[in-house]
Amino acid sequence: MAEVKTSAGAETDTLCFFVNGKKVLEKDVDPETTLLSFLRQKLRLTGTKYGCGGGGCGACTVMVSRYRPADKTIYHYSANACLLPLCQLHGAAVTTVEGIGSTKTRIHPVQERIAKSHGSQCGFCTPGMVMSMYTLLRNNPQPSLEDITQALAGNLCRCTGYRPIIDACRTFCQEANCCQVNRIPNSGSEKEIKNETPLLFDKSEFLPLDQTQDLIFPPELILMAERSSLQTLIFHGERVTWISPVLLEELVQLKTSNPQAPLIMGNTSIGPAVTFKGIVHPLVISSIRVKELFEVTETTHGVWVGAGFTLSEVRAILKKLCRQFPEAKTELFRALIQQIGNVGSQQIRNVATLGGNIMSAYPNSDMNPVLAAGNCSVSTICSGGQREVPLNQEFFLTFGETVLKPEEIVVSVLIPFSRKGEIVRAFRQAPRKESAFATVTTGMRVLFSEGFRVVEDVSIYFGGIGPTTARATKTCAAIIARPWNDETLRWAYDILMKEFQLSPAIPGGKAEFRRTLTLSFLFKFHLEVLQSLGKMNVIEDTVLKKMEPLPREIQLSQQEYQDVSEGQRDEDPVGRPIMHSSAISQATGEAIYCDDIPQIDGELFLALVTSSRAHAKIINVDVSHALLLPGVVDVIRAKDIPGKNTRVISGYEEEILAGTQVSCIGQIVCAVVADTRAHAKRAASAVNIIYEDLPEPIFTIEDAIRRSSYFEPKRKLERGNVEEAFRSVEMIHEGLIRIGGQEHFYMETQSMLVLPVGEQGEFKIHVSSQWPTSVQIAVAETLAIPANRISCHVKRLGGGFGGKVVKTSILACITSVAAWKTNRAVRCVLERGEDMLITGGRHPVLGKYKVGFQKDGKILAADIQIWTNAGNAVDESIFVLEKILLHLDNAYNIPNLRGRATACRTNLPSNTSFRGFGVPQAACIIENFIIDVGLVLQCPADQVRERNMYKGPSLTHYKVEFSPENLLRCWDECKLKSDYCGRRIAVDTFNQQNRWKKRGLSIIPIKYGIGFSDSVMNQAAALVNIYRDGSVLVTHAGTEMGQGVHTKIQQVASRELHIPLSKVYISESNTSAVPNTFPSAASFGTDANGMAVKNACQTLYQRLEPIRQKNPKGTWESLVLAAIEMKISLSATGYHRGPDCYMDWDKMEGHPYPYYTYGACCCEVELDCLTGDYRTVTTNIVVDIGKSLNPSLDIGQIEGAFMQGLGLYTLEELKFSPTGLLYTRGPSQYKLPAVCDMPLSFNVYLLPDSYNPHAIYSSKGIGEPVLFLGSTVFFAIKDAVAAARKEVGLTGPFSLDSPATPDRICLACASPFTQNQENETGCFQPWAIDILKAPPSNVSVDSYFSNK
Ligand SMILES: Cc1cc2nc3c(=O)[nH]c(=O)nc-3n(C[C@H](O)[C@H](O)[C@H](O)COP(=O)(O)OP(=O)(O)OC[C@H]3O[C@@H](n4cnc5c(N)ncnc54)[C@H](O)[C@@H]3O)c2cc1C
Ligand code: FES
Ligand code: FES
Repeated sequence: MAEVKTSAGAETDTLCFFVNGKKVLEKDVDPETTLLSFLRQKLRLTGTKYGCGGGGCGACTVMVSRYRPADKTIYHYSANACLLPLCQLHGAAVTTVEGIGSTKTRIHPVQERIAKSHGSQCGFCTPGMVMSMYTLLRNNPQPSLEDITQALAGNLCRCTGYRPIIDACRTFCQEANCCQVNRIPNSGSEKEIKNETPLLFDKSEFLPLDQTQDLIFPPELILMAERSSLQTLIFHGERVTWISPVLLEELVQLKTSNPQAPLIMGNTSIGPAVTFKGIVHPLVISSIRVKELFEVTETTHGVWVGAGFTLSEVRAILKKLCRQFPEAKTELFRALIQQIGNVGSQQIRNVATLGGNIMSAYPNSDMNPVLAAGNCSVSTICSGGQREVPLNQEFFLTFGETVLKPEEIVVSVLIPFSRKGEIVRAFRQAPRKESAFATVTTGMRVLFSEGFRVVEDVSIYFGGIGPTTARATKTCAAIIARPWNDETLRWAYDILMKEFQLSPAIPGGKAEFRRTLTLSFLFKFHLEVLQSLGKMNVIEDTVLKKMEPLPREIQLSQQEYQDVSEGQRDEDPVGRPIMHSSAISQATGEAIYCDDIPQIDGELFLALVTSSRAHAKIINVDVSHALLLPGVVDVIRAKDIPGKNTRVISGYEEEILAGTQVSCIGQIVCAVVADTRAHAKRAASAVNIIYEDLPEPIFTIEDAIRRSSYFEPKRKLERGNVEEAFRSVEMIHEGLIRIGGQEHFYMETQSMLVLPVGEQGEFKIHVSSQWPTSVQIAVAETLAIPANRISCHVKRLGGGFGGKVVKTSILACITSVAAWKTNRAVRCVLERGEDMLITGGRHPVLGKYKVGFQKDGKILAADIQIWTNAGNAVDESIFVLEKILLHLDNAYNIPNLRGRATACRTNLPSNTSFRGFGVPQAACIIENFIIDVGLVLQCPADQVRERNMYKGPSLTHYKVEFSPENLLRCWDECKLKSDYCGRRIAVDTFNQQNRWKKRGLSIIPIKYGIGFSDSVMNQAAALVNIYRDGSVLVTHAGTEMGQGVHTKIQQVASRELHIPLSKVYISESNTSAVPNTFPSAASFGTDANGMAVKNACQTLYQRLEPIRQKNPKGTWESLVLAAIEMKISLSATGYHRGPDCYMDWDKMEGHPYPYYTYGACCCEVELDCLTGDYRTVTTNIVVDIGKSLNPSLDIGQIEGAFMQGLGLYTLEELKFSPTGLLYTRGPSQYKLPAVCDMPLSFNVYLLPDSYNPHAIYSSKGIGEPVLFLGSTVFFAIKDAVAAARKEVGLTGPFSLDSPATPDRICLACASPFTQNQENETGCFQPWAIDILKAPPSNVSVDSYFSNK
């Protein structure tokens, strides 16, 4: 067969595969269908989740099993269902989370352990975690901890901080079976202590792993594979035809006749291009059934490895060869094994093929530089015959292009044995340690004649420094025939620096850092070569020590909390570490999120059309083409809105759909509704909008200041006399810090389903929102119908973090207009890229400060100016400013303190609330100038902190009296638990002994105001119904987003009604049951709703009192029945009128918070100064949360918030193009903390004996405060960088902006490789803009601020 018809409707084969043991025969499979959409939409197996659609988050992980007749073996591997084309699964068995266990049958031990170890909060990531771990166990029932962290490296969790997931999984490790003991934190020693505090879970309850219960591989598939049917399979879809031949000759013929058709293997390169760039291939050729691509042949030269093998398989093959052959022959194999371990995640490596990686010709491919440096070659075939092509500099032409002809197929790759005297190494540096494309990656090889140090041959290739893999030809020429020594290398560095002159406009940016990395890697290679030459007895002894990798072994951690008092009833659950009430459902995939709600008859899907211009007039919106596309029903525009197209916040109007003008890229212009997601999406991209650009969009703080583009009012808070204090202080220092924004990256994207009831304008809205009432009211106004016709239902959120408070209502309004106009149910679920583009995030902040202090470290005056980049709409920006100013003191008593804050109006998507609501930015500025003061005075920063901390009865800068006693207790306890003084000495000693690695230590306090300073929001209501069987249904105003508010509320109801927890159920949050609610935010959800539920329960308990007195021994059920007989109402509302907080901004005083949550955190990091890579070695957090209602949930919140903070300050970097387009629109470009970022020793201690009269049962709010403590890692890094700078004679304050990404860290370290760089100058447009660009420093800060 040579040519293939590509039209739909032609004859098509039947796809046969198994899902969870059941056979699936799919007749009309569309090649564009992924396994994920098939599972979710066709099979209704919604446990497998959509998180990103590009293989970057792991939420869609499933296990795929295949039988290989060649070795008669069944292979099980984890894979991302979002990248698996359904057609590729012919003959495979798929296992999803539903297939391994359920509450109806039996749950699997992995599901049980993750749930009971508190490893599931919002639960959206949990099925993916479960499946990664399950697959690991299927292959290796007793894995090591390293195996576990590898298996989970590609699974992101935004809630937990990973520690409980790792703890759950390590219960399967052999070596962890004695783990009722914990290590002493920070000791670094192997000494272990008995854990005398109560445990968060009891391992002895866990089901044993019993693999006889696992689904077997379907024998039918073995027969099918053995029969080795030679039949070519063809599947025709709407736009794409899929063909899968078995014979190599046929593959060659097909490729010859269709040279542009891609060979689809792992689909990890083709898939993302199709999904994210909209590329359509009318024909794709799958070659996974062609056996010649899966052969291994040994020769005297090396090994030919089939191009079809996945990277995981190649790794396994090479490992086997390493065991077979002497070390000297396997240098290249070992370098490749190491490098493959760094490619993507396990799920990616399990499907991505060797041939695919080479042929994708990514500029930063990890394989290609090593293969090229190692003298590999490929064997290819096409109709013209076979040939061997060296993988060298000539092979890679540019991004995505090689020297091969389009019809050429790579059959195998020759990986040569190394020769005697040959040394091969690979290095890479990426924005995150694991599961991230490299910034720069390299393969280096050198050959010495036996017994000599003169270089006979050398080969150095880099990725990430240009459009393709590149050879350092001149550098190699400079080294060859010279002795390998410092002098040669110095010469080589000079040449290398000149050889790669990167333009500052290079895609991806970071030109200076990339060049530094090339030098750093060569230096690292130098150290390795010296070691090897030493081993070969060619040189006497090594002068320089090889650099050991950063530590990576995860320790057992400690979680300490106070047990309930002795007198507490056994059945009273308050204060006990009760598991999240949905954890089991979440782990089995049974938990229902908005997009899991089954499809409604006639349902439509809505896709948004967003602006591609930052500041422009809309001249025309042409929807004619879109309307003609298959499945399209309508396009919704501003003129279709029956009610208001605007909402008003802080006096500013914001349009729901843009009318005549757009003010940022990503602003919603219109929306398309169609019968399927794919159709809606295609039609949305077919809407053609004509713009007329308006002059000078504003992107940076500098631009906004220059053009006076602000959202009013500006805010100011001042105490004392700052000017006078500056005149009297001994020293003054001025500085600046930029704190970048942050994407919420809730794992569940914004989702909603609007159902017209069909009578009197009634609508039911299922929505993933933190504030159902705001959705209800906004939709009512948009549709011009009364709010009583609209009921909003929130079952649970797959994470919110503040991002589903305000933005969701706009999306719900648009979806409701579509439902109203079409009179059909309409669903809207944002894709990850859209969500990141449209919904904004944490406000990026520029903080400028002037601080006056005495030589003893006492700070007497601080003047702080803050600008936020608020974006194009005000949203909550003014409230964020206020909270920033209210937390400007953090934990310090600065007698003369002035803060002035301004929200800049720019042409970027508008920012919104985010966990911490400005406090993480405010407190970071303060801590940064404390560090500066320490560096100026050459005095440890912790001493400056102690010198300035609140002590005794104190007054905040807004004149509230409080006692900092528990703040100081947290601080002291934290110092003690982390052995701060001992570690300081150890860190200093380490730094004296290590030139290229440095350790850093930091301890940071937090004082965080809980609740809303706007009094009206401090209220809550609840409805409690008791049913005649004694079961109780509670509805309250809070929404469950993983924080466990429903679980805590159940605990409250159980205590108040004196009934077991199992009798209390919470189904959803619902505006019909509990109206006029306020958002679950400000760490106030449990405080407010707990009190409301308590109130309702007490009412009911009182009503039952007469019956109880008559029959004191009666059961609960008998009480309830008797009450019904006696006509006593068993339904009660509860209400909590929260504290009357206020803030008078004119008088600059008030009482904005009822109380504070306190904490302190100590972190130690180890830094590789050559690359900017770092590892958090230990973290000890002590938090005062009063009497914890539920220690497991509270510790979970603490760990999760800390990790989110760690992300904010060290990893998560938003990048915008010069035209204002957000580049970072998915997990491939935007890095959240992953398992590899978890502190190796991660300990949390709840302060004992703390009470709080202001919240329920003496507890405290905890959702937000600890996020700021993630900055402890940032400041520990800064401490390590300061040590590195000392080596080159740099002392005193220096600037390090947040996030402290490897490039910033590396450049701040000022190693010899970062200095002396000749950077390209001249006129260029940078790849990305600095949206926090400050005004010139020679202009007085005061000239920018005129308060009122
Ligand atoms: C989330 C994610 C993370 C990643 N991280 C990394 C990373 O850290 N480092 C890294 O190096 N890469 C990384 N990658 C890229 C990945 O390694 C490549 O996409 C993969 O190796 C391509 O292999 P594939 O089998 O999936 O190719 P496919 O997507 O199936 O095909 C890719 C291209 O190769 C061609 N092709 C495939 N096989 C042959 C053949 N035998 N002969 C001729 N042409 C062929 C196809 O025609 C197509 O053009 C990542 C990818 C993803 C999605
Ligand atoms: S949804 Fe598949 S990896 Fe994110
Ligand atoms: S529990 Fe992991 S993302 Fe929420």
